[in-house]
Amino acid sequence: MMRKLCAFECFMLCSFLSAVLVSSKFHGNPANDLVDIINRNRTAAKISHLSDSAGLGCMALQFVNFCKGNCTSNNTVNCNPSSDNFTEIFAPDCGVELPTFDTITGQIVACQHEYLEPTEAFSRALVSDKKTLSLMKNKSHTEVGVGIVGVHKGPFFWCVLFSSGKTNSTFVLENHGLGIKQKRGCFSGGSVECSRGHSDRAFWNNFSFILYSVLFYHLL
Ligand SMILES: *[C@@H]1O[C@H](CO)[C@@H](O)[C@H](O)[C@H]1NC(C)=O
Ligand SMILES: *[C@@H]1O[C@H](CO)[C@@H](O)[C@H](O)[C@H]1NC(C)=O
Ligand SMILES: *[C@@H]1O[C@H](CO)[C@@H](O)[C@H](O)[C@H]1NC(C)=O
Ligand SMILES: *[C@@H]1O[C@H](CO)[C@@H](O)[C@H](O)[C@H]1NC(C)=O
Ligand SMILES: *[C@@H]1O[C@H](CO)[C@@H](O)[C@H](O)[C@H]1NC(C)=O
Ligand SMILES: *[C@@H]1O[C@H](CO)[C@@H](O)[C@H](O)[C@H]1NC(C)=O
Ligand SMILES: *[C@@H]1O[C@H](CO)[C@@H](O)[C@H](O)[C@H]1NC(C)=O
Repeated sequence: MMRKLCAFECFMLCSFLSAVLVSSKFHGNPANDLVDIINRNRTAAKISHLSDSAGLGCMALQFVNFCKGNCTSNNTVNCNPSSDNFTEIFAPDCGVELPTFDTITGQIVACQHEYLEPTEAFSRALVSDKKTLSLMKNKSHTEVGVGIVGVHKGPFFWCVLFSSGKTNSTFVLENHGLGIKQKRGCFSGGSVECSRGHSDRAFWNNFSFILYSVLFYHLL
């Protein structure tokens, strides 16, 4: 009897866990996936591979955090941070060493009211017209960074930044390339997976709630 009960609870616990894991929006790091998709697209057109810059990626994340309130009903981002915002807010918030800051030669920003997997985000949101396609294929870029953030219950924001800076010596992150830990969202090039911020805590709260319920049940 006891054993059957336990099996049942394990089943419930596992179902709950997998439901929560499956429902979490970001699997792995979709920002890295987008960098791969961009590079595959360029390589197929015989255009140079772009190096993955964590400093640029983190600033792309700051960009979408800054513009989070401005997704229009037609999925365009109505927001234009100044170059001062880059050097005074985005770079310091990432821990980009200012002397290594270089020119940003292109940016693509998009938002959608639903989450899109990387391939969909690429073709439907980011590189969906001639203008963005030619920007992505510009031969003068040398490095790229992608940032993604979702607002609770949507919308989701994507930003791609390009630079023609010297690979590995521009947008260098302090603290041996780690930079400042980000609370929310994903960015490419870093060694860390996406941060889910509050949702992580909610998950653990719910998880411990279930765990306690199970224990309690046994004690009764
Ligand atoms: C999207 O909406 C904004 C204002 O909300 C407008 O300025 C812009 O032209 C629209 N873009 C398209 C492609 O319809
Ligand atoms: C967001 O849009 C509003 C209204 O168009 C504008 O006043 C505000 O400055 C924008 N925010 C940013 C960060 O650009
Ligand atoms: C962003 O830059 C604009 C123009 O330089 C400035 O007015 C604004 O205060 C900056 N935003 C923040 C949050 O510092
Ligand atoms: C590529 O980017 C560079 C630097 O931003 C720009 O000067 C140039 O016009 C772009 N080329 C094309 C074909 O768009
Ligand atoms: C590159 O991206 C463009 C825009 O989404 C798409 O039309 C094209 O088919 C892609 N090329 C390859 C080789 O995937
Ligand atoms: C940049 O750094 C990576 C990893 O450390 C290395 O594989 C690559 O060759 C470097 N690229 C250049 C142009 O120095
Ligand atoms: C935790 O539970 C609350 C309500 O009990 C729910 O709204 C929330 O979505 C749950 N969070 C997760 C991560 O499952």
